Amino acid sequence: MLEGKKIILGVTGGIAAYKMTSLTRLLVKEGASVQIIMSPEAVQFVSPLVLSTLSNNQVLIHLHENNQWNNHIELATWADLMIIAPATANTLAKAAHGLSDSLLLATFLSKKSNIMFVPAMDEDMWLNPITQKNIDILTSLDHDILPVGEGFLASGIEGKGRMLEPEEIVLYVKENYGRTKSMSGKKILITAGPTQESIDPVRFISNHSSGKMGIALAETCYENGAEVQLILGPTHLKPIYKGIEVVSVATAEEMKVACDIYFNEVNIIFMAAAVADYKPMTRSSQKIKKIEEELELTLCKNEDILKGLGLKKKEGQVLIGFALESENEIENALAKLKSKNLDFIVLNSLKDEGAGFGYDTNQVTLINKKGDKFQSDLLSKKDIANFILSHLFS
Ligand code: CTP
Repeated sequence: MLEGKKIILGVTGGIAAYKMTSLTRLLVKEGASVQIIMSPEAVQFVSPLVLSTLSNNQVLIHLHENNQWNNHIELATWADLMIIAPATANTLAKAAHGLSDSLLLATFLSKKSNIMFVPAMDEDMWLNPITQKNIDILTSLDHDILPVGEGFLASGIEGKGRMLEPEEIVLYVKENYGRTKSMSGKKILITAGPTQESIDPVRFISNHSSGKMGIALAETCYENGAEVQLILGPTHLKPIYKGIEVVSVATAEEMKVACDIYFNEVNIIFMAAAVADYKPMTRSSQKIKKIEEELELTLCKNEDILKGLGLKKKEGQVLIGFALESENEIENALAKLKSKNLDFIVLNSLKDEGAGFGYDTNQVTLINKKGDKFQSDLLSKKDIANFILSHLFS
């Protein structure tokens, strides 16, 4: 997701510097070009040779090296983003007061925007009002200061001041600096996961949906710059990005209410949830005791949420349904496309190995209103989301 992004990773002299090997690998894996600048102290904590190998670039440390001037202005202009991690109390203080006694700080001072500090220090240093004042100064200048974690610190005590883990830093970079604009301005409503229909206070009817496909769609739309509203049935999963708004629901009725609230203001609707078709006619207020040899449950139909949305769809809105079929797949999917007034339907066949509920992979046939069919390979759910989006906008 960071393909083509040019990132300077400024490493300063704290024990957490050793984690920059992982951070570098993760950034490179995401497609970023990484140029590492170390403070002279940082080389005590992590090897420049390892970092230059992992970043595929020579690590820069001093303003002058091998009789050559490292041009901090050119470096600052080159970079889309500068991450300073770990950012020690000393570095934060120097940065806040404009000191430039190293290549790293000179580059920071030459860079006008997109600067991210990832602090790491002992709790006493972190809580010291001087450090907090320095952070206030840097924040007021629109620099991005990531929070610190709490836990075991290098000094042996437990407390605040731990650097965020490399995975958390990369996620922050992706969410705040990596989103593309191909879907910006678009508002998307996505439903995902199962619904649960209560029998009594401890039991329910549901299905095996994990919500993975809908969550993958939500994340992909969000990565492409869209505003995403996710209505999520009961699942232990959630989207990785904080900026995706999630409304948690349990029953089909709750899902319908949530859909109705957002429907009018969105451009595209993906109904990926596996809504329970039936619910118990009555819900026992007390736990049903196992007295009888047989127990009969009478079920009644849940309202078809998607059909309701299809009826009130406005000009310009795009409605996409999902169909899970075990036989006569195309025929059934086409019937649903028509009867629910959809623009597209994503067909999942239970006959396809490795596709459907719970899997990390999926295989689909996307069908449009004209009946054109687009068949995917067996791909990760993230790639299926990209496959669907690419055909939606082609
Ligand atoms: N759907 C819905 N509300 C329901 C049932 C289904 O909004 N009460 C939506 C699903 O989210 C999906 C589409 O309708 O996008 C098709 O769901 P599916 O379960 O494949 O088909 P059904 O319409 O329920 O019909 P059947 O179970 O008979 O195949």
